Amino acid sequence: GKPIIPYDEIGAETLSQLVDAFYARVAAHPQLQPIFPNDLSETARKQKQFLTQYLGGPNIYSEEHGHPRLRARHNPFAITPARAQAWLECMSEAMDEVGLSGKFRETLYNRLVLTAHHMVNESDSEE
Ligand code: HEM
Repeated sequence: GKPIIPYDEIGAETLSQLVDAFYARVAAHPQLQPIFPNDLSETARKQKQFLTQYLGGPNIYSEEHGHPRLRARHNPFAITPARAQAWLECMSEAMDEVGLSGKFRETLYNRLVLTAHHMVNESDSEE
């Protein structure tokens, strides 16, 4: 049949809930909270835009912010392996909260593991 676009499969509503559930955990995480702004509303807005296009939806992140250049945009922050693991744990818990499961969840999570590891720009020992 017709290929299913991941963005259509999750839907804008659940994607938005996922990002909100994720940043609620980031805000409470001892290793992540210090490198994020106190007000995460703009960060969450950008992440919703980014994940929309990451999942094959409209390119609304790039339309407003240009090419993602995600690794470069993370350069100002110390992204250690421990922080990448913490980011992924927050995301996994957020996926549980909004009820993502099965093949869709597995595929998205595995993609995010690769992207998170790609963001690492500092070793744990330099912390
Ligand atoms: C922005 C941390 C992984 C997507 C940010 C910011 C921090 C951060 C501190 C800046 C927030 C702000 O000033 O608003 C981390 C850490 C990661 C990680 C510790 C662990 C590996 C990822 C991954 C993705 C991602 C895997 C994509 C799936 C974004 C986006 C932004 C962002 C789209 C907004 C960029 C912009 O300003 O336009 N991240 N991040 N991050 N991150 Fe991450």
